[in-house]
Amino acid sequence: MDALRSSEWYAGDDRNAYIHRAWMRRGVPSSAFEGRPQIAIANTGSDLVPCNSHLAEVAQSVKNGVYEAGGIPLELPITAPGETQVRPTAMLWRNLAAMSAEEMFRANPIDGVVLLGGCDKTIPALLMAAASVDLPAVVVPGGPMLTGHFRNEALGCGTDVWRLSEEVRAGTLSEADFLRSESSMIRSKGHCNTMGTASTMALVSEALGVIVPGVAGTPAPDARLLEAAHHTGRLAVELVAQDRRPSTFLTKANFHNAIVALAAIGGSTNAVVHLLAIAGRLGIELTIDDFDRIGAEVPLLVNLQPAGHYLMDDLYRAGGFLAVLREVRDLLDPTALTITGRPLVDHLDEARIWDPDVITPRDAPLQPSAGISVLRGTLAPGGAIIKPAAASPHLLKHRGRAVVFDSVEDLRERLDDPELEIDEDSVMVLRGCGPQGYPGMPEVSNMPLPRKLLERGIRDIVRICDGRMSGTAYGTVVLHVTPESAAGGPLSLVRTGDWITLDVRARRLDLEVPPEELSARVPNEATVAGYARPRRGWERLYVDHVLQADRGADLDFLVGGSGSQVARESH
Ligand code: FES
Repeated sequence: MDALRSSEWYAGDDRNAYIHRAWMRRGVPSSAFEGRPQIAIANTGSDLVPCNSHLAEVAQSVKNGVYEAGGIPLELPITAPGETQVRPTAMLWRNLAAMSAEEMFRANPIDGVVLLGGCDKTIPALLMAAASVDLPAVVVPGGPMLTGHFRNEALGCGTDVWRLSEEVRAGTLSEADFLRSESSMIRSKGHCNTMGTASTMALVSEALGVIVPGVAGTPAPDARLLEAAHHTGRLAVELVAQDRRPSTFLTKANFHNAIVALAAIGGSTNAVVHLLAIAGRLGIELTIDDFDRIGAEVPLLVNLQPAGHYLMDDLYRAGGFLAVLREVRDLLDPTALTITGRPLVDHLDEARIWDPDVITPRDAPLQPSAGISVLRGTLAPGGAIIKPAAASPHLLKHRGRAVVFDSVEDLRERLDDPELEIDEDSVMVLRGCGPQGYPGMPEVSNMPLPRKLLERGIRDIVRICDGRMSGTAYGTVVLHVTPESAAGGPLSLVRTGDWITLDVRARRLDLEVPPEELSARVPNEATVAGYARPRRGWERLYVDHVLQADRGADLDFLVGGSGSQVARESH
């Protein structure tokens, strides 16, 4: 093994080495600094990231494994957003978490890192950081919570909040009963138990190769998660010895496998922006069209909410993620290596489906083709996406008149106005929700339906937006419209009453307004006012540098990496 990176801080008899060692001693023997890999445990848990608040316990198991294998474990708290808690939207803070993690990985005397994440933005942020620093890195996902029940009915986090709140608005559930369900929603530690973004990113990261195969999806309270954390701690020490950095094994083949997995599990559309951002950090040419090309024809095999019925602990007992991958083994790229040094496909032999109601066999899929479709056309020249598996089949080809909302606030104000002219054939358009415009690209594309439609029993109409959609949501929603309205995309020029055509099979999204008429239009005042540029702080930096959704909404100066070298020393 070459000299450890940390030896640049700790080896030698000069004053700097003395300072680095002395301040770390605090009861630690000098042998800790003599050729032993220093492994950071990047912990995104905090009381304000409730889905990750148990990660201190997981970190302890990682530490035990690192120490047992001869390394020195060092916990490193990473500031990260709790999806349900932060304003104005968690996505605004993903890049901040990624940037702060990257800088701390690079600045500190560490040789490798174990990444502890769970809640939606945390695993993506950690992987973006690790890719840019390119130190040996492996993820331990915090795992989903156990299923809560209300009146004998399983509750899916997120999905059932949307469903129940729509029932209240439709008048089929009392507000008191809705509030009674609140204490049953989150049954245990862990992240959301639907196939939302957190579950998706854990499983997709395992398909990518950065989690030990078989670990993702282990429920947070399950003792086997701590055992896996212990083994991963041991592995982290090996990774340093073998110099297995992200750039040594992550290729486009790994992203191919992640996209196949994303489709087979019916995963969140948010995985598109996150995978694009991670690939961008690695210098791998991945485009939104790859998601359609690789994933569109992959069958849906996992019967989990929001596309299906069950929840994450059901997936685990039914055989787990590897059983899903085994069904689509022929679609996976056999050359893609994992963090173990072996190809992903080599880890699938012993996987079995134990409950075919939860994981359906390949010859009886829930849906024959379930991947994300990429749409282009006069309304989305840079592309937009839709998840047909979560949409109403009868709306996948549709022509309707636009009902336009200029912001989330405008939507809330007018949604239930009895005068709003809208019916089941209308197309709801919401703009001002892209990376720059909101700013931060919130999960609002799955707009609630007007009360007067809900009362008529209508549960889905076509919706179009430049924002994102919660992975726990469902509906015929076209999202990530690029360019966003704030960047001058055609979305900014749509007017209520314009005809819009959606044709998913033809991959088209068109605004039926003649080009000469469109070019004569200017965005209306309310739209422009909504784009007031932030004056200071992170929001200012973000708006000035954020890329569009088709580039993963990363910051332009964070694409790529800078490695782990730091030449200067201030002491
Ligand atoms: Fe944290 Fe859903 S809110 S995973």
